[in-house]
Amino acid sequence: MFETLEATSPDPILALMQQFRKDERSGKVDLGVGVYRDGEGQTPVLQAVKEAEKRLYEEETTKSYVSPSGDAVFCDSMRQLVFGQSIPSERVKGIQTPGGSGALRVLADLLISVNPGSRTWVSDPTWPNHLPMLLQAGHKLERYPYYDAAKSTVDFDAMMQSLQSASAGDVVLLHGCCHNPTGADLNQEQWHAVADLCEKNGLLPFVDMAYQGFADGLEEDAQGIRILARKLPEMVVATSCSKNLALYRERTGCALMLAGTETAAANSASRAVSLIRANYSMPPDHGASMTRIILQDPALTEQWKAELESMRARMERLRQEFADALRKRSNSDRFDYIAGQKGMFSRLPLSESQVDKLRNEHGIYMVGDGRINVAGLPDNSAEAMDDLATKIVGVMS
Ligand code: LMR
Repeated sequence: MFETLEATSPDPILALMQQFRKDERSGKVDLGVGVYRDGEGQTPVLQAVKEAEKRLYEEETTKSYVSPSGDAVFCDSMRQLVFGQSIPSERVKGIQTPGGSGALRVLADLLISVNPGSRTWVSDPTWPNHLPMLLQAGHKLERYPYYDAAKSTVDFDAMMQSLQSASAGDVVLLHGCCHNPTGADLNQEQWHAVADLCEKNGLLPFVDMAYQGFADGLEEDAQGIRILARKLPEMVVATSCSKNLALYRERTGCALMLAGTETAAANSASRAVSLIRANYSMPPDHGASMTRIILQDPALTEQWKAELESMRARMERLRQEFADALRKRSNSDRFDYIAGQKGMFSRLPLSESQVDKLRNEHGIYMVGDGRINVAGLPDNSAEAMDDLATKIVGVMS
């Protein structure tokens, strides 16, 4: 039967990652896949993770199964990171998942199993993989406008106007912070307005929280979710340890379900567990165990927070340096927005052919829509930053 198949087009971000690896040019610049890199272009294992791994090696007594819902202490630590004290803890249940993507898929499966007739509203633009993931889970998709490319800000009026058409029971997919791909986040007032709309029209927020700690700080980045949680009876959050703990390949994430009562939360978790059992059965353990060790030990937690803060501060500095270099080379303020946006990504106002030209002629890699990963910008070399800015401005003229 497979001879009837044709090759499927690869995911644009993962294809770019492969293409960069194969490129043999020495001055190549990787602004593509959303993986943090330090000044040497490496993605190191965090020291707190190394220490937790050592302890895990010494303490671990078995490799027997955990369970479909995973480690309860890990899940509770993730609940605490995301919701803090904003709501009574018993209204939230967490399930350990294979990465933030696993959490997204588990929650997508859960929501469709509870309310198959609903529609899911997704920001335009969004992380490209949201769309196939939701479609494969059976969601009916609607798009809401999110970004005003001319002003490089959230187009909040257009977003809210569009979401007025959502009906009771519909799901609204939101990015908790560090919007991917735009780096343009909602402010607190806007989060309140979204919470009011969801309350008034009976909409269920589904929040993708893949970058907590990369915008303004761990607590600050959770404010949007906490505003929703204080107001609404129900919401779900897919959270990830890929970026903030740099555990990418360990596939460590958590699906959090907030319900009106403890019983409803427990029942939503029990439904999710059945769906997981029928899918991948159980999550991997290693990353979640290390995260649990870190978050249960105050000294290790502090060490991790300091490492996270240094990643965050470095990206903030690189944003400023890049915006300055572009200002100088373009002799305009049209790139100043980059300094004020949040997290790992911003979008450059480039056409697909300009993006191709930068890649083919200069070995500068970015996603086709102009998305750049700021952690990949040249560090500690004003000339390299200036050279990059010159080439970008060059393809635009
Ligand atoms: C990205 O957006 O580049 C990351 O989330 C990695 C991925 O899986 O796409």
